[in-house]
Amino acid sequence: MPRPISATISVPALAHNLKTVTAQLARPAIPVARVCPRVWAVIKARGYGHGIGPAVRAFSRADGLAMLDLEEAVQCRELGWAGPILLLEGFFEPRDLAVLDEYRLTTTLHNTEQLDMLSAARLSRPIDAFIKLDTGMSRLGFAPDRFRDAYARAMGFVDRKLLASAGKMTHFARADDDAQTTQQQLDVFRQATQGLPGSVSVCNSAATLTPGLWAGLNDTDGQWVRPGICLYGASPFAARSAAELGLQPAMTLASRLISVRTVAAGSGVGYGHIFTAPKTTRVGIVACGYADGYPRHAVTGTPVTVGGVRTRLVGRVSMDMLAVDLDPVPHAEVGAPVVLWGEGGPSVDEVATAAGTIGYELMCAVAPRVPKTILEERQA
Ligand SMILES: Cc1ncc(COP(=O)(O)O)c(C=O)c1O
Repeated sequence: MPRPISATISVPALAHNLKTVTAQLARPAIPVARVCPRVWAVIKARGYGHGIGPAVRAFSRADGLAMLDLEEAVQCRELGWAGPILLLEGFFEPRDLAVLDEYRLTTTLHNTEQLDMLSAARLSRPIDAFIKLDTGMSRLGFAPDRFRDAYARAMGFVDRKLLASAGKMTHFARADDDAQTTQQQLDVFRQATQGLPGSVSVCNSAATLTPGLWAGLNDTDGQWVRPGICLYGASPFAARSAAELGLQPAMTLASRLISVRTVAAGSGVGYGHIFTAPKTTRVGIVACGYADGYPRHAVTGTPVTVGGVRTRLVGRVSMDMLAVDLDPVPHAEVGAPVVLWGEGGPSVDEVATAAGTIGYELMCAVAPRVPKTILEERQA
């Protein structure tokens, strides 16, 4: 018998989340927004841990898929995805360009080295590109005072039939928590791209879900938003839950109790005895630990559901097990179902907060040893 832990991925929940985001984009808050943006569904890191196959099936109505691993891009094509695919970091070495050419991949161009590699390439047909501007993230992209030169080189590549189109893109550092910084980045973007034709792509989930933010950005050929985390049913905002945003959890990490014990008042539980029972306490041991991807830094009090009842983690998370307080669930026995996060349990964001991290990290970190079940349809 395998250990009783599993991660269930819901294709309908993923599809629901895309629909929720798309519906919001169709209701612009300010009238300057003329055309509804197109959506790159971001599926990097194997669809934020949900798997490329489920993501491709769930996001079949997206306008494009965005990722950064060439192998994942090829896999999308092999799974039948015929629409645009954006490589968020572009290509890394000259031989990658043959893959972009063969599989019709759209590239980000964010540095001079990439422009040089593209200039020397022989392609069977022009590829699409987005030229990335660094408006303040200080990660990838041309500095504002270099952007026009990079864009001019890209236009030269259009003339040489290496590129079919050149869009403009940037990435926000604080769209989730600081409107002022985002506004400054938008101002830099507007100024640096003034008068340059092409489509525009600026918004991650937080920006996509901030009404009207993407409007009026020198987007002669329309906009492409790039939501990631919200499609997986987690919130990009610390102060607004995924449920409030109308999102559904797409990943459920579940297990069972494999041991139940009564711990005397004053006795410690688990490594380091960082939890000591204040009174006689029933404690359940769950088959889930940090080697499964559950965060070791989750603190006593982190929410968890046992037999449908919300309770809390106690003590330090071990490699393969963790302990929960069974006082709110007095009848729970060995075999009782446990939801660590997802449907029927706490949200991944709640667990992440209790562990000092973000939902992104938890979903991406579920270990390969955890068996995955893919729900293709809603359960009755
Ligand atoms: C360039 C780029 N665009 C879009 C996204 C999606 O961001 P989020 O998952 O916050 O929506 C990311 C994620 O890190 C990214 O790096």
